[in-house]
Amino acid sequence: MDWQALQEGCRTCRRCALGDTRTNVVFGAGDRGATLLFVGEAPGEAEDLSGMPFVGRAGQLLNSFLDEVGIAREKVYIANILKCRPPENRDPSPTEEEACRPWLEEQIRLIDPKVIVCLGRIAAARLIKPDFRITKEHGTWFERNGRLITAVYHPAYLLRDPRKRPDLQSDLEGICAKLQQLEQG
Ligand code: URA
Repeated sequence: MDWQALQEGCRTCRRCALGDTRTNVVFGAGDRGATLLFVGEAPGEAEDLSGMPFVGRAGQLLNSFLDEVGIAREKVYIANILKCRPPENRDPSPTEEEACRPWLEEQIRLIDPKVIVCLGRIAAARLIKPDFRITKEHGTWFERNGRLITAVYHPAYLLRDPRKRPDLQSDLEGICAKLQQLEQG
């Protein structure tokens, strides 16, 4: 599948019931040739209304962290485990995650990033391991399907618990260092 077929298929997707309640599919955005792919959980209200990932409060916080460590948002790709907003921002159900999985898998195949960063526990549980412990394992590197993958606190979580902000800062610094290492090696 190429990008156009993928995006069109996703835009009209009816594989789960979220297709009945969404305003827009939030396909993902950014550089399709990116080395770094961020994967969040699911669109919130602002994303559902705009069709763009991470544009609400959590997205603005993410932007400020990316600025701080010198990662240009337009040079990375940002997607989510679910492409449609769960009503009331509830957690994605396993059925929804399973139904949506092929879209992200195909995005990963096309982008072919060197590094994947899960934003929060839900993405980490899906992409790293089901029992991922975000408090203990954030910033730890894993290898999945020949790619490096790590997880950091979800920015929405930091809006609720600002004491965790330094952890996100240092994990992002570690990610920058890893990218530099990969470029040099
Ligand atoms: N939270 C997410 O996980 N993804 C978004 O796109 C917005 C908020």
